[in-house]
Amino acid sequence: MAYTVFHDFSVHPCPRVVRIEPSSLCNLRCIHCPTGSNQDIKRGNMLDCVFDKIIEEINAYNAVDVVVLYHGGEPFLNKNIFKMINMLRSMGIRFIKIVTNGVLIKDETLLMIIKSGLNNIEFSLDGLSPEENNQIRKRGNYYQVASTIKKLLSMKTDLRAITPDIYIVNTQIPTEADIKKRVKISTPKYILNDFSNFKGKIGFKNTYMLKWPGFDCFDKYKLVEGLMDKKFTTLQLLQSCCSNYYYQVERRCCSLLLRYHQ
Ligand SMILES: C[S@@+](CC[C@H](N)C(=O)[O-])C[C@H]1O[C@@H](n2cnc3c(N)ncnc32)[C@H](O)[C@@H]1O
Ligand code: SF4
Repeated sequence: MAYTVFHDFSVHPCPRVVRIEPSSLCNLRCIHCPTGSNQDIKRGNMLDCVFDKIIEEINAYNAVDVVVLYHGGEPFLNKNIFKMINMLRSMGIRFIKIVTNGVLIKDETLLMIIKSGLNNIEFSLDGLSPEENNQIRKRGNYYQVASTIKKLLSMKTDLRAITPDIYIVNTQIPTEADIKKRVKISTPKYILNDFSNFKGKIGFKNTYMLKWPGFDCFDKYKLVEGLMDKKFTTLQLLQSCCSNYYYQVERRCCSLLLRYHQ
């Protein structure tokens, strides 16, 4: 019998995007982040056996094509991070991404990043000036991280490496006026100027700070509450999944994540 399919309502047997938390520990104390502001969060590095279990599940379903290596903490605090990337790479995951504060990345780590097969690395640098970055990213230092990014960019060029794509992700505190006038966010001049020699070799992403549910320890600035009310389709929710470092599945963040990574 002939029939017409108007919509494809099929759903993957397993989320297409999996987010894994190598560590929920952090070396910084960012004022906008639940991890940095000492919220009551379980802390630790993901154990090998937990990572192996996740890998086993990903392999069994054979439907995952994006793995994002961060959630609450700093992924480079897990000493097995390159082993994790290597394993994901050898499984044939199409897109592997990491987001880092960049502080722990030493010169000797740069080559490992380039050779690792990571598709994308994002460095978080916040606010509208180096000074504001350091006020938001407490214990962090704009110039130290910017210097590391520049070294990575130069090394990637020298080696003619194709990956990873390198981004700066900048989170800004909106003013009342920004919110009222719905000002479109843009990359701050201090970052564009500092990286003007690397045009076309680095990308920039910007976002206003979100007010996480239950987050009440930071009231100096008004964070954007409304952004948390974005609507997601059921399919989007079903296509993403997040495991924290002790194998507890979290969903909400992943739905936000899909907006950025699909
Ligand atoms: C939670 S951190 C984990 C990775 C790493 N430690 C880092 O700072 O990049 C990932 C990203 O979440 C962002 N983030 C944390 N709290 C936020 C908030 N309230 N609103 C928007 N972005 C936030 C950080 O600025 C960072 O870019
Ligand atoms: S470095 Fe990342 S995880 Fe750590 S406190 Fe800052 S935003 Fe949170």
